[in-house]
Amino acid sequence: MGSDPQSAIASLDARSERVPPPEAFAATARVRDPEVLRRADEDWQGWWAEQAEHLRWLRPWDRVLHWDPPHAQWFVGGRLNVADNCLDRHVEAGHGDQVAFHWEGEPGDARSLTYAELRDEVARCANALRELGVGKGDRVNVYLPMIPELPVVMLACARIGAIHSVVFAGFSAQSLTDRIEDAGSRVLVTADGSYRKGRTVPLKEAADDAMAATDLVDACLVVRRTGDPVAMEPGRDHWYHEVVGRQDADCPPEPMDAEDVLFILYTSGTTGKPKGITHTTGGYLTQVASTARLVFDLQPDHDVYWCAADIGWVTGHSYIVYGPLANRVTSLLYEGAPDHPAPDRLWEMVARHRATILYTAPTAIRAFMRAGPEHPAAHDLSSLRLLGSVGEPINPEAWRWYHEHIGGGRCPIVDTWWQTETGAIMITPLPGLTHAKPGAAQQPFPGIKPVVVDDRGDPVAPGEGGYLTLQRPWPAMLRTIWGDDQRYRDTYWSRFGSDVYFAGDGAKLDEDGDLWLLGRVDDVMNVSGHRLSTTEVESALVDHPAVAEAAVSGRADALTGQAIVAFVTLAGEAEEHDGLADELRAHVADRIGKLARPAELHVAPDLPKTRSGKIMRRLLTDLAEGREPGDVTTLANPDAIRALAERTRQARAAARSPGNSE
Ligand code: PRX
Repeated sequence: MGSDPQSAIASLDARSERVPPPEAFAATARVRDPEVLRRADEDWQGWWAEQAEHLRWLRPWDRVLHWDPPHAQWFVGGRLNVADNCLDRHVEAGHGDQVAFHWEGEPGDARSLTYAELRDEVARCANALRELGVGKGDRVNVYLPMIPELPVVMLACARIGAIHSVVFAGFSAQSLTDRIEDAGSRVLVTADGSYRKGRTVPLKEAADDAMAATDLVDACLVVRRTGDPVAMEPGRDHWYHEVVGRQDADCPPEPMDAEDVLFILYTSGTTGKPKGITHTTGGYLTQVASTARLVFDLQPDHDVYWCAADIGWVTGHSYIVYGPLANRVTSLLYEGAPDHPAPDRLWEMVARHRATILYTAPTAIRAFMRAGPEHPAAHDLSSLRLLGSVGEPINPEAWRWYHEHIGGGRCPIVDTWWQTETGAIMITPLPGLTHAKPGAAQQPFPGIKPVVVDDRGDPVAPGEGGYLTLQRPWPAMLRTIWGDDQRYRDTYWSRFGSDVYFAGDGAKLDEDGDLWLLGRVDDVMNVSGHRLSTTEVESALVDHPAVAEAAVSGRADALTGQAIVAFVTLAGEAEEHDGLADELRAHVADRIGKLARPAELHVAPDLPKTRSGKIMRRLLTDLAEGREPGDVTTLANPDAIRALAERTRQARAAARSPGNSE
């Protein structure tokens, strides 16, 4: 997305269409009274305290909030345990036999875990971690596919006060090493492999490479998933089933301070180095549980809830693991690709499990649209009662398709805006209350105060675009960047003052006071709902011996939201040859992960630069987006951009010509 929110507004489909909540839904919805919003606004600390009362506290808090901008402490002095809240209290209340997760592996194998079984497995795993020397405050890196052991390990960490740092299993060995080192983890939990699109992915091999590149890890627990042979290093590597299997299921939850760190999750910033977003215990669980309950309208005795994200991202942390479990809901957990073995895999599962709620990303919805409405139509989706969207703005066309073909016109859609940093949903319709506008996230969640501002930090008038800021602390907010508090201040709290959070997104307030999100205003790309920084991909490219310089930009893509376009110049001896682009793409996959591979890669003799030698990224964004390059008068080498424009045009024409498979 470019740096000008106004240009994004111009492309918005400004329609006044409003979809009221379906009557049947509104009649029983958890939030029916608009007063809730007004009350929460008037006494927002009181509102959050009310929400926190839904949890089990081992010691009550002395004070709701201590705000010393930009540092917040919520529920000061309170003590609780997240695993206790997600498991033990439900079992103690007599719900031990309720299923927590219906898990399904990609090959079709399945396992259901009740709350009592999950509690016991978590306790055993917690004892196993202790046996490996893990204690309160220690970091545990987790590199697992979507199998039940992933939430188990996270909850086991929470139970003993260890800090988990989950790394999405699609990330490369190098990315894993970087995250292990930054967090200072001694322990890694991984699996022999995972299933993806009918093949096995050798996860342990990547974990071995990652561990070889650091001397930090001295214990590695390995879950047997695929059964593929793996190397096990004596003394360091242990089979999960052996170590966990021999433990006792008794492990009292550690009473944690509300402000103790629960987890670190890395996300891309505007530099090459990912940021360790640090979340704590009491505030995080309060907001995650409360948003899950009120935004998804959870009815624990009836719902079968499915968030089809990966736990490796924040959506999975908050809305597969902690939010649903804190609310004692029954969830689906699925390991594999949504279109394997056939494009109707998800719909077949929704029908078989009678799922009632589905939460997924616009990029997935667009892929389903492309596959065709006959796939959902072949299944009985009448159990669904609410749909959710997250990760990027949902285009009105995808919204309507989702509403009609998945929701049967009967389900409210909640378009939820939030970030790894916010920890929980911040801007969203309330499903029993809000008259939905396709494409807009619309309203702050009760207690949240978003303000769209201009360059000077002044609120913009309705209809104008600007920068999204949050002007009140919120319980699930990040507390810092792991090991780099200065970067925390600089990135989020310096642009408009130390008490104004700058989200990095453009937004617009319409005449009705509804918020429209317009995408990033910085050098962060959003590819299939995943955040990547241009610099991160550039660093991976220049790390290849053939590359001298690289500039990366995102362009709009009908399926993935944005796609990565890379421009490179070659180093000294290196020559352009067939296969070079593939080699460079593979190199990026190796450095970061397949998700970061450029969709397009153009080799150029020169990149456009200012007289002081800086690459003019704005012009490259124009090229990436297929626009005529803007003002070139300040360039030191105006020929470079003309030559590059010509090459890009030719390459795209060639890619479109018949016979080219890419
Ligand atoms: O640009 C916004 C976009 O995703 C970014 C946050 O990415 P991440 O931390 O990876 O978390 C994704 C899942 C919460 C935001 O800065 N984004 C997320 N949800 C929406 C969105 N943009 C518009 N509408 C949304 N509903």
